Amino acid sequence: MGIFDQIVWEKSVFRNEGVLDYTYMPSQVLFRENEQKEIVGSLKPLIFDRLPRNMYIYGQPGVGKTVCVKKVLEDLGEFTSDIYSTYVDLWSYRTTNAIYTEIARQMKMPFVSGRSSEFIAERIKERITAKKGAVFVFDEVDKAKDQMFLYNVLTNFDKVCTIIITNDQTYMQAVDARISSRLTPYYMEFKPYTIEQINEILAERKRAAFMSGVMPEEAFDLIVEETFKYNDIRLGLFLLSESGKIADYNNSDKISADYVSEAVKRIGTFKNKTSSVGLNKEEKTILNIVGENQGLTTSELYGLYVERGGSLSERSLRRYLEKLSSINMVNVNEIRGGIRGRSFQVFIK
Ligand SMILES: Nc1ncnc2c1ncn2[C@@H]1O[C@H](COP(=O)(O)OP(=O)(O)OP(=O)(O)O)[C@@H](O)[C@H]1O
Ligand SMILES: [Mg+2]
Repeated sequence: MGIFDQIVWEKSVFRNEGVLDYTYMPSQVLFRENEQKEIVGSLKPLIFDRLPRNMYIYGQPGVGKTVCVKKVLEDLGEFTSDIYSTYVDLWSYRTTNAIYTEIARQMKMPFVSGRSSEFIAERIKERITAKKGAVFVFDEVDKAKDQMFLYNVLTNFDKVCTIIITNDQTYMQAVDARISSRLTPYYMEFKPYTIEQINEILAERKRAAFMSGVMPEEAFDLIVEETFKYNDIRLGLFLLSESGKIADYNNSDKISADYVSEAVKRIGTFKNKTSSVGLNKEEKTILNIVGENQGLTTSELYGLYVERGGSLSERSLRRYLEKLSSINMVNVNEIRGGIRGRSFQVFIK
């Protein structure tokens, strides 16, 4: 039998690995009913032509802030098309121009790329005026390079519910007084989950991700305990996924507690990948762009990087890529047979 023959017969413990992806939208956001109600309460006045309430949402990483807000926006979109809703992650879009361009893109507005912020803001305003209003979510708001976008939104646009999300509880203290006095948000903290809640959230994903009966209770309990230590649901998803992969690698039809322990040893990689400890802003932006556009060429990467407000030269960007590659965070592969000299494709690892 050839080496590859057995691959045909290879089984997997996974039923649907995709549900362990951090960007996967669960059908229900568990234990955040009150938070969702508050968000709905903030934007609901728009439906009745009244003034909405702005929000400042904060809390530790992986406690469901993003997923919760996105869920409400999704439901809002199903309920009415009279209110625009846009979600922008400022880790990826950091300048006022990049943020406005992204909002315009989500509003399906043509011909804004390369236009001034004032021009785009004016078009956005026209659009909102023609409807009942808009909800703007600025996630990871502390990552913005300047705060002009926020000032403009608050001073020039009517009928907008502005929701900012951050891990940084002190963000407002550093914000320009002209912004904070206009924002006057409702503050909402996302508190960490209890161990029972973590158990239930992860159990839901485990059921959807794996074939039934592949993960013994003791293995799952270990994952719940580890997740509780860090209080970051993303870590639980990482451990579920890694331990499943280890089981597959070993051709086992059970995910034993030993495999989970092995996955726990890889938490360092997880921490690097998500919170990107030790990486500077440029490197984080590069990682984000590659994550969203796997396999793009270095020149495409540079184009997107500049579009998002990056100021490095293409040469420096390549140097950063080399560093990210040397610490195993990206793969840079040469494309063979390129006609215009050497060309490279970038993948996240
Ligand atoms: N209550 C929940 N029910 C279902 N899934 C959840 C819940 N809370 C978090 N998750 C899942 O955990 C992961 C992390 O959640 P999320 O991205 O919302 O965290 P966050 O608070 O925005 O973290 P960060 O501050 O790092 O951005 C997501 O994949 C999300 O689907
Ligand atoms: Mg988030």
